[in-house]
Amino acid sequence: MKYFFLSYLFIGAIIVSAFGLRGSKSELPPIEVFDDMDHQAKLKYQAASEFFADGRGARLPVKGTVPMGFEIPAKPAADGEKPTRFAFTNGLSYYQTGKIGDFYGDGLPTEITSDPLVYNEAFIKRGEQRYGIHCAVCHGASGNGKGITSKFGIMTAFNFQQAGNTDPANAAAFRADGAIFDVITNGKGLMGGYGGNITLRDRWAIVAYIRALQQAAKDSGATLQ
Ligand code: HEC
Repeated sequence: MKYFFLSYLFIGAIIVSAFGLRGSKSELPPIEVFDDMDHQAKLKYQAASEFFADGRGARLPVKGTVPMGFEIPAKPAADGEKPTRFAFTNGLSYYQTGKIGDFYGDGLPTEITSDPLVYNEAFIKRGEQRYGIHCAVCHGASGNGKGITSKFGIMTAFNFQQAGNTDPANAAAFRADGAIFDVITNGKGLMGGYGGNITLRDRWAIVAYIRALQQAAKDSGATLQ
């Protein structure tokens, strides 16, 4: 009987120590009955490490690769030379947002003077290729909103060809270049944003290609699908 009471007390003490103090605040690190994953071998930012031969914790980019957030330069960067033009940014210019102040702009931005954006074959071809990779699954290769995903009835993507959507005079349906750019960057409604995947320049190339698709649809009289 004595042992029964003793073990009873003992179990009671364990339960109180494990659960009874929950909610009370302490500066001390929490008691860990089992080793949590808080403690494991890891490297902290900018810290040294003996694990690597060069003694640095952080690794240098692999030779010949380009870190995310930089535009792939026209030629491979030589040793020590840095690609300088940012391809993904959070700046406020028209080139980076599609907006001029509070309004969407229309037309290609002119602020990149070193390698200006112009409607030429190479730029539109680039847009075609990127559109094929990122947009056609939902919006369809022709831009009619009937990509492969439409067959599964999950969602209806925007139809770029639909009459009205191509007409700047139709304020309710027409999307200005900057508005399309913004939708690519941030998404809208059921569509997710692609700002993290598609460089600024490629987003404008896609916009240019969408205009080409719309023109083609207009010319062939296919805009009423
Ligand atoms: C996963 C499918 C999917 C992909 C991929 C996709 N979209 Fe969309 N998109 C949608 C859907 C769905 C809508 C309708 C959104 C809504 O109204 O809820 C839409 C709407 C739009 C709109 C109209 C938004 C508005 O103003 O109402 C534009 C412009 C657009 N997409 C452009 C693009 C471009 C350009 C790409 C490629 C970079 C792309 N989308 C990739 C599904 C997609």
